[in-house]
Amino acid sequence: MKFEGQHILSVAQFDRDSIQTIFNVADQMTPYAMRRKRTKVLDGAILGNLFFEASTRTRVSFGTAFNLLGGEVRETVGMSSSALAKGESLFDTARVLSGYSDIIAMRHPDSGSVAEFAQGSRVPVINGGDGANEHPTQALLDLYTINKEQQYGGGSIDGIHIAMIGDLKYGRTVHSLSRLLSLFNNVKFTLISPKELAMPDAILKDLDAAGHQVTITEQLEGSLDVDICYQTRIQEERFESQQEANKYRGKFRLNQSIYTKHFKSKTVIMHPLPRDSRADANELDNDLNMHPNLAIFRQTDNGVLVRMALFALTLGVEKLVSKYDTDVHWYSSKR
Ligand code: CP
Repeated sequence: MKFEGQHILSVAQFDRDSIQTIFNVADQMTPYAMRRKRTKVLDGAILGNLFFEASTRTRVSFGTAFNLLGGEVRETVGMSSSALAKGESLFDTARVLSGYSDIIAMRHPDSGSVAEFAQGSRVPVINGGDGANEHPTQALLDLYTINKEQQYGGGSIDGIHIAMIGDLKYGRTVHSLSRLLSLFNNVKFTLISPKELAMPDAILKDLDAAGHQVTITEQLEGSLDVDICYQTRIQEERFESQQEANKYRGKFRLNQSIYTKHFKSKTVIMHPLPRDSRADANELDNDLNMHPNLAIFRQTDNGVLVRMALFALTLGVEKLVSKYDTDVHWYSSKR
């Protein structure tokens, strides 16, 4: 795959070679993210960071990644602070804002909206999540994390068994991650959700066509011989009412005793975050916070590396990063 000048809209764009390229470049970003070195390779470049839906990690890590490469970030946050609220089209917004930026990252609540925006953009657009549809950069950072966790245990992505738990209907991260995993060999999926929140048929068909083994169940029960337990949040913002979402809140609790009962001692716990930490959510309890297999904050750290890699590749500077680097002189606890 050619990256330079391309939009990143869907995981369907990637094959195994392009994923490996992203992973290799992400690995090379470690000294900059760890504040051992700084680079000015994107000095003067501007990221338009457009978030028309709530976000902490994706928005801030896109901005951080761009800053770490030496570029500047201009943010638009919330629909009401943009002329979209006055009825301006995504096409017009894209024509205008792409004149002010070298690259754009965008999140929007409607499926397909980022691709529609990209049609009007004169610069590369990266999808930061479009409704319940896709979240390609999250899937890439999840896959990067899975690869690292597997490598640590002497394994690889091929042949893994992953359990995906919770809201698999509206959870765009599990849609994108499933599609990326389907590029690998002999992946086993155990999909655990209420039937009303099951994985969409189109994704199940793709997994089946790729020859993967898929088990669908409504209960977390028995001993699960899985390498990865991928927990999700009930995506309450996509339900018709809060009351409807509340029916499913707390249904798939994960805490230390449930983990011990259902999972093997090496099972890695992942979650795209945010986890719902309100008392009645019972999603991923704090008593697992210090568990060595809890990878949720390794995921968020890896998000910076993967997003740096995507910026470097789409702007064609991946081989120049070290040419423009210098030492850093300040104290950093990250080193
Ligand atoms: N994982 C994720 O997309 O988090 P944010 O909603 O905070 O960006």
